[in-house]
Order: sequence, then structure tokens, then C-alpha cells
Amino acid sequence: MAAASQKFARYTITAALPYTNGPIHIGHLAGVYVPADIYARYLRLIGKEVAFVCGSDEHGVAIPMKAKKEGVSPKVLIDKYHGIIKQSFQDFGITFDNYSRTSAEIHHQTASDFFVKLYKQGDFIEETTAQLYDEQEGQFLADRFVTGTCPKCGNEEAYGDQCENCGSSLNATDLINPKSTLSGAVPTLKETKHWFLPLDRYEDFLKQWILVDHKSDWKPNVYGQCKSWIDDGLKPRAVTRDLDWGIPVPVKGGEGKVLYVWFDAPIGYISSTKEWAQREGKDWKPYWQSKDTKLVHFIGKDNIVFHCIIFPSMLKAHGDFILPENVPANEFLNLEGQKLSTSKNWAVWLHEYLEAFPDAQDVLRYTLTANAPETKDNDFTWADFQARNNNELVAIFGNFINRVVVLSQKYYNGVVPVTGKLTQADNDALKAMQNFPASITDSIERYRFREAGQELMNLARLGNKYLADEEPWKVIKEDEARVATIMNTALQLATALAILSEPFLPFTSAKLKKMLLLENCKPSLGWESIAIQSSLLPSGHVLGKSELLFRKIEDEEITAQLEKLKATKKANESENKNVMPQKETISFEEFSKMDMRVGTILEAEKMPKTKKLMVLKVDTGIDVRTIVSGIAESFTPEEIVGKKVTVLVNLAPRPLRGVESQGMILMTESEEGKLVFLNPDNSEVDNGATIS
Ligand code: MF3
Ligand code: ZN
Repeated sequence: MAAASQKFARYTITAALPYTNGPIHIGHLAGVYVPADIYARYLRLIGKEVAFVCGSDEHGVAIPMKAKKEGVSPKVLIDKYHGIIKQSFQDFGITFDNYSRTSAEIHHQTASDFFVKLYKQGDFIEETTAQLYDEQEGQFLADRFVTGTCPKCGNEEAYGDQCENCGSSLNATDLINPKSTLSGAVPTLKETKHWFLPLDRYEDFLKQWILVDHKSDWKPNVYGQCKSWIDDGLKPRAVTRDLDWGIPVPVKGGEGKVLYVWFDAPIGYISSTKEWAQREGKDWKPYWQSKDTKLVHFIGKDNIVFHCIIFPSMLKAHGDFILPENVPANEFLNLEGQKLSTSKNWAVWLHEYLEAFPDAQDVLRYTLTANAPETKDNDFTWADFQARNNNELVAIFGNFINRVVVLSQKYYNGVVPVTGKLTQADNDALKAMQNFPASITDSIERYRFREAGQELMNLARLGNKYLADEEPWKVIKEDEARVATIMNTALQLATALAILSEPFLPFTSAKLKKMLLLENCKPSLGWESIAIQSSLLPSGHVLGKSELLFRKIEDEEITAQLEKLKATKKANESENKNVMPQKETISFEEFSKMDMRVGTILEAEKMPKTKKLMVLKVDTGIDVRTIVSGIAESFTPEEIVGKKVTVLVNLAPRPLRGVESQGMILMTESEEGKLVFLNPDNSEVDNGATIS
């Protein structure tokens, strides 16, 4: 819907507030901040009013947990990472209009007021329920403090708020076999009072708003996730926590409790807008409360439920706010084939990148855009980074500009020459150039930044091809007048490139504009000028000094980065050697209750719509039964049919995705995380043999 831009008077663009438990890495950039910044820059360039807001997410259990690990107070921790994050965004050219933080007074006030309003309106359910409690730590467990098996997909590492395997949003008490991440203990249940947002009350609204109104303009991955939550049935969700880090619950009975981080953090978008408006002498309200404002949330896929279901329900309940027009969530970026991880230090950290490659912000922006995980998870490799730079930015974009500038200096002393009669080739090139703003706009308006970035590069390709075809360096010997026309045309292409590259390659665009002295063009040239006039730079216009746009990236620089990752891997491996501590002692009676048998897998089939689950038919010697096992990522069905395995046969049957699993196959995990069967390698053992 490219025409959508006409409908709105202003834009509020939000980028997920990063947690201050670590610095920013390339996964955050590719998924959220680079596309958001391209979008915001593009809108400003076409003359729209934009509030592009973000800030640090400083509450939630992740913060005290990490602070404890680092041996500092939560306040010291958030100050440290807020500082690093804010600076690195700035150095990287992310043009937030405001970067706030949720520890700011204005945010505490805004979030408290929001809660109180909903409380007074009767929008919460107040309930005393039994919650998971870690006796050893003397603390209630929720969210990331507890892991267990996902009741929806069987993933054994689901968190108390969400399963990252199937994307389900969970309550901690939904987990099967919960375990405290603080002490490893099995939690007990203890009564506590909390306030719940009854999401079920918003079901009709969400059905209409998402499943009908936004059926065609939201990305399929976002729409699909929303649909599955809604279809699953929405349940009340606690919006308060028993924690001592966060925004105090501002109502009677809330003493010692804080707002759930996912209640306060999205309100941070509003507080950040307020802070910006105060500083700029503007009114924040239209940006959040006028129907002619387009609100867009840029997030990663793990944040979809919060931005599409919970926050909109909060906004709806409040009553004064607009809802997001779109939530273009991205999938994940991996690094050298492995999942990015802050805790495992498996990342390219932005602030470290900027130290290793100062002045190469655009190279990273370009690589991350070209590989943006828009429709599926994608991989960042240093080899690809080098290739994108050397083969595309240097060899195509840089090369074209370099030829244009060098030849213009050489033949015309840096003054734009007068054109003669245009040939078919000149006209074709200029016409093609004039179509670029529309095609790039179209991709951007549909949140296809990858396509938009490639389209920009196609303009540079066009320029290169034009010069290669017209060969001014040859023609100069026989037809000087023709060369003036060629160079004039090439300079128009270079000018269009300077303008259109701004959202994607802002540092390069600024350099190029300086080289072409575009600031001396009156009236000034903009995105729209290109479609209107094929002659952007007038003849007689004086060019500025030339600069190098991109430099080659050498093999040694790439090797150094790969070595760094190798060292990380090694460090992680030696840490992993720390085997799990021994569990509590059990009696012989307890042990002998477990009935373990040798069995054979007879059939195996992947469970549809899951990543990990396989449905097995196993001959246990006693019977042939169905067992659902989370092994689909380690094995194919063909590999395991006929395999001897060890089966816990008297585990209480439990349904997994509608299939009753009647036992458990015993497994262990290799160092690389691959699952390994505990199979008796002696084939003489018959099915049904007991293990003791
Ligand atoms: N801190 C969260 C994360 O990194 C994102 C918060 S987005 C907001 O996953 F909406 F809550 F602000
Ligand atoms: Zn799951």
C-alpha cells in the first residue's frame, strides 16, 4: 500500500527498547534498529513529521540477575550499559529523535499513571493465586527466573513468560517440570496477590483489528503468530510481580511489588515521546492520540505478542490512544551459523565493531540490510561482510563515483559540462534513474528494506554499465563534445545516488553530497526532484573535492575477527566442561519406582508445525506405544527407525500438541548440543529388558 503515506500527517516510529543487561549487537541492529532508521530517515527525507523514539529497558528480572553475576548493584549495571548503548547508537548514525530510559522520572510517572487509570476503570482482575516460589532463594519465580517444558510444543527450555521454540506466551505456572534458574531447585507454590489484565476481554477487538483489518498489510509471520495466539484463546495475564526492582505498584495492596516489565516498557515509547516533546517545545499528544498519526513498531520476532496483543489491549483499555498501523517484526540473525547470544558472548558487539572499523558504519548497515532476516532467520558471516564491501560497495558504488569524479576533474576541472544532443542511451539511463525513487519508496513503504537496498545498488550498477558502454575515456580522443554529454549524464546519476542513498548509507551519502557540493544547488534537491527533473546538477555547477567513499577490507582484518570468535568458542567450551552439580540424594525405593526398558523405534514421523517434536512408535517389549520426543532437530525419521533405545515406560502419559505421549526416551547431549540416544549397543538385548 504505497499510497498509505498520503493519509497520515505524522509518524511515530518506535524501536524496541533494548535491555541494559548488555551492549547492542548485530542481531539487534539487523532486526530492529537499521530498518527503523532507514524508515525514519526516508520519511524525513520526503518531508514527513517524524518522532523516532527509543530508550533503555532497565526493569525486569534480567537486570538484577545480570547485576548479581557482575557483582554490582542494578543501578551501576544499567548506568554502564545505558551509556554504552546510547553512545554506540549515536556513533552508528541511528537518528532517534529521543533516546530515553525507563529509570527516568518521566517514565515512572507515565507508567504509574497508566496503571492507576486502568485500575480505577476496573480493567484489572485482582487475584490471590499460588505462584512458583524458590524456597532456597526466598523469592517468587516468574519470567526468566524459571524454565521448564513448554506445554504447547514440548521444548524443555521454555521460560516462565514465553517459549522461544514455538513462540507461545506462557504463565510460569503453565510450565511442566519447572526449575528455578537461580538455584536449580524445583519450585514450590506460594500464595500471592497480583493484578491481571484479562486479555480474554479484548478477544473480539483483537479479532477484528488484526485478523480482519490487518489481514493483508501485516507481514505473514506477524499475522500468523497473532492468529495462533488468538485461536488458542487469550487468558488473563499478570501485570505485576513480586520483585524489588522496577516501578512500584502504585495502588493499595501493591507494597513490595512492582509493575511487570512488559507492562512498563512499551509505555516507555510514550514517555520517550513526552521527553522529546518537552525538550523541543512540542505537544506529544498528537503523536499518540491523533488518528492521522501512523504508529509503527519495529521489533524482533520474540516481541510480537507484547506489541500486537498485550500493549494494544492496554492502549485500548486506556481509551485515548491510537494503535499501531504496522508491526514489521523481523526474524533472527545468526552469526557464523550459530545463534547470537549475549550471555555466551557470541556476537559482534556494535561498540567493538566501531573500534575495529571506525568510519565503516555504512558497510555494516549495508551488509545487515542486504542480509536482513525479513522473512526467515539469516546468517551473518565475516566472509560475506568482506565480499559485500569489496565486491559491491567498493567495486560497484565506489567505482562508479570514483570514475565520475576523476574524469570530471580531468576533462572539465570539476565543472559540470554542458550537454549536447542526448542519445538513446543517455535518455534510457536518465529515464531509468527517474524511476528509482518510486521503486525504492514502494519497497520501503512495504517494509522490504532488503529489496530497497538492492534497488539502490542497482542504480550504481546502472551508472557503471552506462560508463562502460559509453567509454568516455576512449571517445575523448575522437569526439570531445560527446564526452561532455556523457559526463553530464553520469553526474546526474551520481547525484541521484547521493540523494537516494541517505536512508541506507547516511555517512556515504553525506560524503558524496559534499563531493558534489549539492548544498549549492538552489532550490535544494530532494527525493522528489529526481522524478521531476532528469537534470539535477546544472551545467556550470562546481564540484567539490573528491574523497574515498569505501576502502577495501583486507583478509587480515577478517581473520582477526574470526580469531576473536574462535577464542569465544574456546572459552565457552571450557566453561561448559563444568558439569552439572549432582542432584539431591534419592533412596533406592525412589529409584526403583522408575521402570526403564530397552525398546526399538519402529516408526518415526515429524509432528507437523513443530520444529523439535517427533511422534514415535516404540516397541517396549511390553507393547507398542506412541512416544512424543523433542528430537527432530537432531535426527531425521529415517536415521532412527530400527534404533535400540532406553525408555522410561511408567512416566505418567501426557498430551503434547494433542498427541498422548506414553513414556520418555532417555537421551543425553553432546558438547555441540546434539542429542545422543542412550542405546544399548549390544543388539542381543531384547526389547522389554529392564534396566537397573
Ligand atoms: N527489552 C525488550 C527486549 O529486548 C524489548 C522491549 S520493547 C518495549 O526484548 F516495548 F517493551 F519497549
Ligand atoms: Zn513451545
